[in-house]
Amino acid sequence: MNKRNLFLLLAVVSLIAACSGSKKTVSSSSGEPTLKEAYKNDFMIGAALSAEQIEEKEPNAAALVPQQFNAVTPENIMKAEIIHPEWDRYNFDLADKIAEYGKKHNIKVNGHTLIWHSQLPAYARNIKDVDSFKTFFNDHITTIASRYNGKIDSWDVVNEALEEDGTMRKSVFLNKLGENFVTEAFRLAEKAAPNTELYYNDYNIEQPKKRAGTITLIKKIQAAGIRIDGVGIQGHWHVGRVPFKEIEESILEYSALGMKVMFTELDIEVLPRNFQGADVSQRVASNPELDPYVNGLPDSVQNQLALDYENLFKLFLKHKDKITRVTFWGVNDGQSWLNGWPVRGRTNYPLLFDRQYKPKPAYYKVIALKTNTGAGESAKKPF
Ligand code: G3I
Repeated sequence: MNKRNLFLLLAVVSLIAACSGSKKTVSSSSGEPTLKEAYKNDFMIGAALSAEQIEEKEPNAAALVPQQFNAVTPENIMKAEIIHPEWDRYNFDLADKIAEYGKKHNIKVNGHTLIWHSQLPAYARNIKDVDSFKTFFNDHITTIASRYNGKIDSWDVVNEALEEDGTMRKSVFLNKLGENFVTEAFRLAEKAAPNTELYYNDYNIEQPKKRAGTITLIKKIQAAGIRIDGVGIQGHWHVGRVPFKEIEESILEYSALGMKVMFTELDIEVLPRNFQGADVSQRVASNPELDPYVNGLPDSVQNQLALDYENLFKLFLKHKDKITRVTFWGVNDGQSWLNGWPVRGRTNYPLLFDRQYKPKPAYYKVIALKTNTGAGESAKKPF
């Protein structure tokens, strides 16, 4: 046996070992479908991958991702700071690897993200002159989108361009280029990547005011005769407080505009926080009271998390004709950004797989909705 095969064998063995403590295995050969198998006729099931996972350096993730998911999004490595670190230098190493990863495993790749105010390299933030900023904007979109045209499947062209009240976010893009920068970004992306789907992506855009702002943006792009294929509702929600009604209204309203609707960064956090959303600039000082589950999640919270996921997927299934993809923001709890935001160093539990890559009760509820085992029947209808 060569080294590579030995490595793969060890990966599979360690996955089986990791799953052995749970009541069921997640092996596709066990007869129980995996996530992507269970939902194959409904919508894609995706996960955000870290650099280590893209490079298949984590054996558990290397085995689990192709088994469970048929779509991936790079969590960080296509952001400007990493892919375009200097004015005249691009770094495509890891981005090329995720395109190859998708091809190798027959998994769709969503590029994230061309235009975002956060994780911008310092030189871009500091450009004073408007013409130079326009040159950066044009080159950035054109160079990256054309390189991956036909190699990845879609782009979050613009990420998080709106404030909570639905007005344009006060960002360097708005400041230098004015309100039309979103339409302009889609125009450049359409030209550079004619074979790639183009999306607007944001958090809290299920909420009425921000939803109205998103609808205005979409209509503006459409009125300019420019292609926009879909909208990504990020889906960073809180246990026991998932806004089911607003989510359903949003699915209907975005879809009525001809948009493919996606849930692109799904996680349901369990730790205390007194504001909604995912603005990465918001920070809260650490305090033991804000980190109550360092030694494990109590059953009551675990069950509520499972119930929330069950009800959410029920809603997604109800509108499966309008939804094309549901992507989790991470593969397992240990990797989630929510361990570090808005308070650093907490122990959070927002995903379907735990820190050992074992499926959690929420995983089984989501699978049970498609296998009619009855495990899904406990959920009260929230919408
Ligand atoms: O790469 C550096 C590393 O070199 C350094 O040693 C380390 C020390 O802190 O930082 C590393 O960079 C971190 C990066 O993630 C990669 O791990 C940044 O500090 C950290 O701020 C960054 O956080 C990311 C966050 O976006 C900020 O941009 C999260 O991983 C990522 O999950 C999160 O994703 C965003 C979506 O793109 C857009 N929607 C909201 C979502 C959650 O914030």
